[in-house]
Order: sequence, then C-alpha cells, then structure tokens
Amino acid sequence: MPIQTCVFDAYGTLFDVSAAARQAADEPGRDALAANWQALSAHWRTKQLQYTWLRAVTGDHTDFWKVTCDGLDWAMESVGLDDPELRERLLALYWELAPYREVPRMLAELKAAGYATAILSNGSPDMLDGAVTSAAIGDYLDAVLSVEDVGVFKPDARVYDMVGTRFDCTPNEVLFVSSNGWDAAAAAAYGFHTAWVNRAGEPMDRLPGRPETTLPDLTTIPTLAAKH
Ligand code: LAC
Repeated sequence: MPIQTCVFDAYGTLFDVSAAARQAADEPGRDALAANWQALSAHWRTKQLQYTWLRAVTGDHTDFWKVTCDGLDWAMESVGLDDPELRERLLALYWELAPYREVPRMLAELKAAGYATAILSNGSPDMLDGAVTSAAIGDYLDAVLSVEDVGVFKPDARVYDMVGTRFDCTPNEVLFVSSNGWDAAAAAAYGFHTAWVNRAGEPMDRLPGRPETTLPDLTTIPTLAAKH
C-alpha cells in the first residue's frame, strides 16, 4: 500500500530538546549552567522519558508537563544546581524549543506532494501548541495528536492506534518518523513503515521491532515516503 500519512514524533525529532539548556547557558550570568549544560540536558531527557515509561507500566498517568518538570528537578539536583530562577527559565524555553533546521521545508514538501501529516507525541496539547506555534509549522500539519486523548504514554499501542482513528488508514499506509530508537522500534512492531532519525549515531535498540530505515536527519523523508 502506498504511504498516505506521515507521522512525526515531536520532542527530539522535530524539536531539539537540547536547545533549552544550550540557549540558557549562553545567557549572561549563567556560568554554573554553562559548565554543565550538556550533562544537565542529557539527565533531563533521560529522566523525563524514564518517568513516562514507569508511569505507563504502573498505570499512574500524569501529563508530559509534570514529567518534564520532575525530570528537570532530578537533573538540576544531580549536577548541583539549586536555582529556582534558572529552573523557571529552562521550563519557559521548553515551550519554544527550536525545530531542527530542515523541518519546515521537509513538511512543506510532504504537503505539496499530497501526504497527510501529523505529530503523534507524548506532549500535552498545550505544550505541543506552544512548540508548533513558535516553530511556525502549524500550516504544514493536518493534526497534532497528543497521548492525553488516550491517557497513557508511548509505547502503549493505544497511542499508535490514534493515527488510524484520525486518518482512517491502516498501519501500512503510514510512515512513522522518530529520533527515539525505542519509539521507532515500537512503531515498527505495531506495523507502521518506520524511519529512525539517528542524529547521534547511536546503536540500534535491542527491542522486538526494527525500523525499516535509519536516516541522519529529516531531509529525505519526502523521498522515502514516495518509495513505498
Ligand atoms: C514525544 C517524545 C517521546 O514527543 O519525544 O512523544
């Protein structure tokens, strides 16, 4: 079946999750962060994701904003930063994360070629609205789907089911794109055509699903979609 719909993970895939700490570290008076921003950013992301998986397993759902705040609190403590003003600044920056450079053009190409396009994300609707608005990519997206509609985080299959429900398509008519190896693996096991955007050159996750394609960035997604 040809691809009908291209679906993107948000955080880390379209939006650069390290941009918040990097940007704050560049601001005047942030020497303590500047010395530690990469470690802080990595811990923040790791804990945020761990909390989503653990809450999905235990059935103790909360929204992505809460796990983002909790992950940041753990990360700040782990690198010895106790600074409420910096915490607020980092959280504010998370609402307007920069998109990766190729994102607007890639989405415009998909729309020009007639594909339906969507975000499918753990993000809460208001967070996603903030990021999409700040990146000015709303015109290229047919839907912004949040896990809040099903009340559980990825990789629960109920999240991936949202695509078929919204677009009235089968999994093999979908190209799912994620920079998160575990998300790409789960989406492949679910039955989507799947591209893993492996910007950091990480090893493949040892999980049941394997993404069909691995790419260094998003530039060639329109070409990939047309190949199916
Ligand atoms: C998301 C997380 C996994 O956007 O990055 O769903």
